[in-house]
Amino acid sequence: VTEPDLRGRHVVVSAGGTREPLDPVRFLGNRSSGKQGYALARTAAARGARVTLVAANTTGLPDPAGVDVVPVGTAVQLREAVLKAAADADAVVMAAAVADFRSATYAAGKIKKKDGQDPDPIVLVRNPDILAEISADRARPGQVIVGFAAETDDVLANGRRKLERKGCDLLVVNEVGERKTFGSEENEAVVLGADGTEIPVPYGPKEALAETVWDLVSERLR
Ligand code: C5P
Repeated sequence: VTEPDLRGRHVVVSAGGTREPLDPVRFLGNRSSGKQGYALARTAAARGARVTLVAANTTGLPDPAGVDVVPVGTAVQLREAVLKAAADADAVVMAAAVADFRSATYAAGKIKKKDGQDPDPIVLVRNPDILAEISADRARPGQVIVGFAAETDDVLANGRRKLERKGCDLLVVNEVGERKTFGSEENEAVVLGADGTEIPVPYGPKEALAETVWDLVSERLR
């Protein structure tokens, strides 16, 4: 039996991966499936929370029952939706993979290859860092903010630096690997706390990692 320890709480979860369009048919994207974010939304709802799930390009995943799903495409759209939902939220968990950059230009018509000519370079501009922004400028005192980081090397040292840079309360650090993280049903992570704590979560279903995240959020909300 799940404890309804999040009853009366509003939590916001972002999931999936943003797509930054180049023209009507192409985009810059990433390999996030949205499964970890959906597991977070389902488990929070089961623990009694009102849940807003900001879902970036997660077609194919069924809407979790009783969860308010806000579909978005780009980082800029994700930012708008997260800021709006975070205004009265007790906790925000940024599980979405947000593109750091987008194309500086959008071609209204499909980009064509021209015979004998090199392709035009794609010029990138920075996207807003939503996690850093909501952490620096909390919508409510005591709001708990959680980030995710997928790292390939020096996982813990990079995670610790990222936690400090972003200013969030908790950072879930994943090692990117064959059987875990992107698209997989399983994950393995270490949850770093701004208070110096380090909670390892062994290889297992994304639900189990989600429950650990809510345990730590719930502790901080008490
Ligand atoms: O810097 P990096 O992309 O590794 O950080 C990952 C964390 O920051 C995730 O929680 C992601 O949702 C968030 N993020 C964000 N806005 C960005 C880039 C990442 O909120 N532009």
